[in-house]
Amino acid sequence: MRILLADDDTALRRVLEFKLKKNGFDVTAVADGEEALAQVKVGAFDLLLADIRMPRLTGIELLEKVRTLEPSLKVILMTAYATVPQAVEAVKMGAFDYLTKPFEDEQLLMTIDQALKFKRLEDENQRLKTELGLRSGLNEIIGDSEPVRELKEIITQVAPTDATVLITGESGSGKELVARAIHALSPRSTAQMVAVNCAALPRDLLESELFGHVKGAFTGAAKDKRGKFEIAGGGTLMLDEISELAFDLQAKLLRVIQERIVSPVGSESNREVDVRIIAATNLNLKKRVSEGKFREDLYYRLNVIPIHVPSLRKRSSDIPLLVSHFLSRLAPRTEVRLDAELMSILAKHRWPGNVRELENLIERMVVLRRGDTLTKADLPHDFSIESEKADVQQAVTFHEAEKSLILNALERSNGNRTKAAELLAIPRHVLLYRLKKYGIVAED
Ligand SMILES: Nc1ncnc2c1ncn2[C@@H]1O[C@H](COP(=O)(O)OP(=O)(O)OP(=O)(O)O)[C@@H](O)[C@H]1O
Ligand SMILES: [Mg+2]
Repeated sequence: MRILLADDDTALRRVLEFKLKKNGFDVTAVADGEEALAQVKVGAFDLLLADIRMPRLTGIELLEKVRTLEPSLKVILMTAYATVPQAVEAVKMGAFDYLTKPFEDEQLLMTIDQALKFKRLEDENQRLKTELGLRSGLNEIIGDSEPVRELKEIITQVAPTDATVLITGESGSGKELVARAIHALSPRSTAQMVAVNCAALPRDLLESELFGHVKGAFTGAAKDKRGKFEIAGGGTLMLDEISELAFDLQAKLLRVIQERIVSPVGSESNREVDVRIIAATNLNLKKRVSEGKFREDLYYRLNVIPIHVPSLRKRSSDIPLLVSHFLSRLAPRTEVRLDAELMSILAKHRWPGNVRELENLIERMVVLRRGDTLTKADLPHDFSIESEKADVQQAVTFHEAEKSLILNALERSNGNRTKAAELLAIPRHVLLYRLKKYGIVAED
């Protein structure tokens, strides 16, 4: 356990340092608050033991800085009798406890012990939360095709950082889902993710939506309003359809990203903001730059970590999984399923509206179904069925689709082959043949 000790009283500091080291702690001792702060910035300490009255930076000021810099660091303040009210105040501000000088060794060690126990609990809590977020965030993204695995991999990598992310992908491909997963897996998940659609509001409204405004800034501004940058404070701000941001607002956004401050509309003052930015677009932003519609400098600021969400037609092997996911959500506790012909039609469809289109289609078919097995006849009239060209690429995709369809049915039937065959609406011997063909081991 690493303890940072700060006291300007040299004699006391030496004694304390000696005692703490004797008790097995790793101690760094400094003589004032400034030095302590410098140490906090570079070293990973578990506990800070600081005197309240120190030159340059007092223990209270140090506490304030440490709270934002290293919130998990436990702080115990030491005080002479005269500064006890201040110490009480410090505990309210987030110090773990205080010790009144002179104190017994036993009292010192007990307080330290409590602080460290508390810290371990907090750390454990944080770890569990992250793990939970890891599961909840990624599990929402259905699919185990190679492109989706890669997507999940990069999400896991970038989530813990504060780096700005630019998500590209066709409409309905899951950009918002990806943004939510990144937020859920990040240390910012305790605060909220706020999403703003830059295409949904006229320029002036969007400006005050993003940056806020003060009372009287324009007709109708009856009171101060906080912008999304402030509301998302401590969390994540998703700027959706960023390509649609008006040119002059792009300049304003650039400033916010560079200087980390916003000034609400009609206000001269600046406010600090602490958000992680995730931008998303279904257009080629680089092309917008070359057309002169998007600022190049902003583009580079946003495109720190580019993430591309693959279109559904590039991962049609995920379709069976997605279908069963939507079925269990849209028709829970029912036996609704798709026959093999319909599934293969879906696997070949081009899906211009991507996962959203698939989700809407399943919903529509579930609502209007005539029986529990959906077939080609349940497709809406305007659904265009792709011709049966036996393209090699499609053949491969079809087998993958068939295999995951079977695996899925087995999972839903808890490995019962007869039941799985029923779910798939195929004879049992056909299923057994397929199991052998794909090398799937399953016993009733
Ligand atoms: N891999 C996936 N697994 C499960 N559901 C998904 C997946 N991808 C997308 N969806 C669902 O599809 C719908 C569309 O996803 P989302 O809103 O994230 O797409 P988008 O790329 O932001 O679309 P747009 O470009 O229109 O804003 C949502 O209901 C989402 O839950
Ligand atoms: Mg979206």
